[in-house]
Amino acid sequence: MYTALYRAYRPEVFDEILGQGHIVKILKNQIATDSVSHAYLFCGTRGTGKTTTARILAKGVNCTSEGERPCGTCANCRAIKEGSFMDVVEIDAASNNGVENIRELRESVKYPPAAGRKKVYIVDEVHMLSTGAFNALLKTLEEPPENVMFILATTEPQKLPATILSRCMRLDFKRVPEELLAKGMQQICVQKGIEVSQGALRLIAAHADGSVRDGLSILDQCISGGQKIVEREDVLEFLGTAGEEVFLELTDKIILQQPSEGILLLDHILADGKDVRQFMKDWLSHYRNLLITKFIKRPEDMLGLSSENVQRLRKQSDSLDLVEINHAIIELSRTMSEAKWSTQPRILLELCIVKMATDLIEPANIPARTAPVRKQKIPVQELAAVSEAEPLREEKRESSLGKAPGKGSEKKAPAPEKSYDYDSLWHAVFEEAETSRGSFNLIRSGTKLTEITDETFTITASNTALKEYAENNRQVLEDLMEKHTGKRRGMNCVLEGEGCMRDTPGAERIAQEAERKFSLNIEIE
Ligand SMILES: Nc1ncnc2c1ncn2[C@@H]1O[C@H](COP(=O)(O)OP(=O)(O)OP(=O)(O)O)[C@@H](O)[C@H]1O
Ligand SMILES: [Mg+2]
Ligand SMILES: [Zn+2]
Repeated sequence: MYTALYRAYRPEVFDEILGQGHIVKILKNQIATDSVSHAYLFCGTRGTGKTTTARILAKGVNCTSEGERPCGTCANCRAIKEGSFMDVVEIDAASNNGVENIRELRESVKYPPAAGRKKVYIVDEVHMLSTGAFNALLKTLEEPPENVMFILATTEPQKLPATILSRCMRLDFKRVPEELLAKGMQQICVQKGIEVSQGALRLIAAHADGSVRDGLSILDQCISGGQKIVEREDVLEFLGTAGEEVFLELTDKIILQQPSEGILLLDHILADGKDVRQFMKDWLSHYRNLLITKFIKRPEDMLGLSSENVQRLRKQSDSLDLVEINHAIIELSRTMSEAKWSTQPRILLELCIVKMATDLIEPANIPARTAPVRKQKIPVQELAAVSEAEPLREEKRESSLGKAPGKGSEKKAPAPEKSYDYDSLWHAVFEEAETSRGSFNLIRSGTKLTEITDETFTITASNTALKEYAENNRQVLEDLMEKHTGKRRGMNCVLEGEGCMRDTPGAERIAQEAERKFSLNIEIE
């Protein structure tokens, strides 16, 4: 049977642990001077060596070697490695989180070690214990017998009660630097007779984001087909989902104002069937990361990224000003909400790239432009808190920009009207309306969505009564459409067979609507 790399290559002695030098130093010293603590708390990101180090520490206190402990080769060390040593007990708190489990533990704590010097209890995922279990554990932690030691491990120390924290010696495991990750993987590859390029190693290391286990898992997948040579392309192909690197690269194209390169890159990225909408979401989070990196000095923990990845982000975010990040976020969110019901999300994304890369955020005058135009300044406080749940409203944006001098306030991105799948959008609108008003079924079966323009949507009713009924419900229908497309549009209602008779002109209607909503005075030029 195949054993996963991260299982096959678990460090057995302190010197094999990658990174965590600060912890290794303390523990080695405590073992050498027989001054180990009776309770430890190992905290830190997944896959950075908590469980591994706990086992090595357990060996250290039970190793019979005269030299450096643990030796990894004496009978006790070997038994602990194999999991057959009576005095080292591992408990997974995620599945044994009740008071009963801890009471059992307390019972067994009373008996002296059977074969070793110390009984060691390793409680993994300790934050999963119930309140009752924590209380039961506390008693034991307060007065543990002389020859008992606890090692608690968790990725979420903030979930532990203060009473537990204060009774343990806390050691924080850090994300492992990429260089070390790459080195460690390189060694494993040499042992396995696999040739792996530096580019491939670097890419895997960047993706592992400081977790040794994640790195090994990626490497594992790259060689799962029995490959003896691993190149960067192989890793890229396996990774499938776009890594931070891809977003950095694409964003660079935007910064350098290279729309065609951007589109080509996108083509390359999407070539293996990645989901366009997911990709947009991830790109949007990349911009959020850039934004946060601009304001927060050490965003590693907040963003859950390694310091190398943060450094790359910082380099990029330094070359962007706030306005540009803001524009990108707005443009991407708008595209995302439009893409929701579109049959052609990819075209929308391409259009979005072009707009972002050519400064055409407000592209009223596409053909005439030669030199790049400076983007309109938006005050910092207008930085929209954009989320998918609340797509940005067009009129809100305009009104918050204030009435720009000249023709500023009426510039608008051309809505990619044709790309809506009218039937499913209309269907989706009624899914919702139906639950709120039963009689909406009438409209649903008797009308069709037949056109969406930048400012209006048109529905076609099969008879006059329905047309009237729809018009009486204009407000609700417009609200629902806005909700689903992220943009306010006025409704036109026409009778089947008739031409499209326009209602109130769209811009005016939007202005009225905005005035009412935001108590503003908007003039249309
Ligand atoms: N610092 C490290 N040095 C070398 N290998 C490591 C290190 N950290 C993790 N590994 C590798 O990852 C595997 C899992 O590590 P370990 O179980 O110690 O992680 P953990 O921090 O306990 O993770 P989790 O929070 O998910 O429990 C190990 O078997 C080993 O192959
Ligand atoms: Mg663990
Ligand atoms: Zn030993």
